[in-house]
Amino acid sequence: MFLDVATEAAWQAGAILRSHFGQLESIEKKGASGNLVTEADHAAENVIVSVLMRHFPTHAILAEEGGPQGAKESSYLWAIDPLDGTTNYAHQYPVFGVSIGLLVDGVPQVGVIYDPMRQELFQAIRGMGAMRDRQPIRVSSTNTVQESLLVTGFAYDRRTQTDNNYAEFCHLTDLTHGVRRGGAAAIDLAYVACGRLEGYWERGLSPWDLAAGVLLVEEAGGRVTAYNEQPFDLQSGRVLATNGLIHSELSQILDSVQPLSEFVRMNT
Ligand code: IPD
Ligand code: CA
Ligand code: CA
Repeated sequence: MFLDVATEAAWQAGAILRSHFGQLESIEKKGASGNLVTEADHAAENVIVSVLMRHFPTHAILAEEGGPQGAKESSYLWAIDPLDGTTNYAHQYPVFGVSIGLLVDGVPQVGVIYDPMRQELFQAIRGMGAMRDRQPIRVSSTNTVQESLLVTGFAYDRRTQTDNNYAEFCHLTDLTHGVRRGGAAAIDLAYVACGRLEGYWERGLSPWDLAAGVLLVEEAGGRVTAYNEQPFDLQSGRVLATNGLIHSELSQILDSVQPLSEFVRMNT
């Protein structure tokens, strides 16, 4: 029931994203970080919120654009990213998705990620596995970092933080088959879950980026922690999600990399 409604909401939002793709009237910046937002983000979010509220009027909602809504004291909370990958979307780079996760007492129980361009649907229910287009999925069986294809991202505050992930990206690019920068955290996590990628790390994320995707990875047999293999916390914004087999090795490598010095940054 929860999964079906979340899927319906994601499909409707996906149709809206497809219809606005390449037809945007306005691309705006929000907040100090220069994070982009478009009319498609708002339109997709409105349809998701209205579908969820119609079915579950007693639940709470945390949506990226509209913030907390609904019955705020409820132990059922829907974390919604109506358009994950707005920068890609605004540039007509067709990698983005809709992410809807249901948290019960703060723990993800249901997750849906929908890629409207490829029309790929990822779903998970805690304890019942993960699926792509209704077929069960598993993480990959690659067991060394050296043979892995990874993905990461760079937070919107990267220009002002030394903890900007540049050194980690360079180091792991040398060490592995490659490191992708997909630009949509939910799609990155879905790709770890279905075995296209061995691992993903990033900081500076929000609960709506992560809620559905971390459940997908876990239910596909992978592992999700914070950095240093600390317990994952949806509020901390730091995630390390892998196929499990490379988790400790990747965690130790990330831990050992020194940030690029200001001098190197400014002169490269
Ligand atoms: C962003 C994407 C990106 C990640 C950013 C997120 P948005 O979400 O997931 O991959 O690097 O940190 O904020 O703003 O496009 O919904
Ligand atoms: Ca996002
Ligand atoms: Ca978004």
